[in-house]
Amino acid sequence: MAATLLERLTRRMSENGVRATAAHLQMRAHERYRDWRLGVDTCGVIPSSELGDDAACIDYEPVNYRCLDVAFNYLTVREGGDVFLDYGCGKGRALAYAATFPFRRIIGVDRVPELCAAAEENLRRVKPDIQCADIDIVAADAREFELPGDVSVIFMFNPFTGQILEDVQEKIRQSLARAPRKTTIIYLYPHNRQEDAFAGRPWITKVCELPTSSWSSIVTLVVYESAPGAGNGQAVAAV
Ligand SMILES: C[S@@+](CC[C@H](N)C(=O)[O-])C[C@H]1O[C@@H](n2cnc3c(N)ncnc32)[C@H](O)[C@@H]1O
Repeated sequence: MAATLLERLTRRMSENGVRATAAHLQMRAHERYRDWRLGVDTCGVIPSSELGDDAACIDYEPVNYRCLDVAFNYLTVREGGDVFLDYGCGKGRALAYAATFPFRRIIGVDRVPELCAAAEENLRRVKPDIQCADIDIVAADAREFELPGDVSVIFMFNPFTGQILEDVQEKIRQSLARAPRKTTIIYLYPHNRQEDAFAGRPWITKVCELPTSSWSSIVTLVVYESAPGAGNGQAVAAV
């Protein structure tokens, strides 16, 4: 085991150099520390090949805590008013973090039942002052999930791409058309491999792109907003 770790470390150093390896180790230690502080166990990557065989579904990888800090610094959560949803919630890191804010309700959706069970367990153990205890984890494919008409913050850390993402965007648009409301979409994607999949959708407006830390330098965080009247095909005026 120790030899394996050493081998991996040596390989990483020869591929990426000492500085990048040291930064990576520091980042991993920080992520473990934040998990510990929150009382959860969400670290680690699980390849999507181990989670099913749909190529458009992305691996399980938790969102970096620093990206969550940036996203939640941006949001102003209306106490008892806002409802948070994480598409592809995995082991529930973003849900546990969101529970420390005064959301009225929090919902996580993931297609992998084992990840949903891990999320449930994490949310049972979450330590700090929980401000929202009304949390639902739904084991379902996001395409089959009807977006409730009161969801006002949608979080997506690169859960899926391609046709799945398009189908889910259409579900979001339909929900906004049925129940017009202001909704914020926080979308994080790796800009070295993907484009901003929400760009050019006429029913939402890009508000800003927030800088993520150097530890997440390949992740772009974009914020979109809909306004009442959105989702019916009309463009929404820029904020
Ligand atoms: C990159 S992880 C994000 C985990 C979590 N949101 C976080 O930020 O820590 C992507 C997650 O999306 C889930 N996922 C992939 N395709 C999905 C689909 N079609 N429906 C629901 N969840 C899906 C995966 O199982 C995985 O847990």
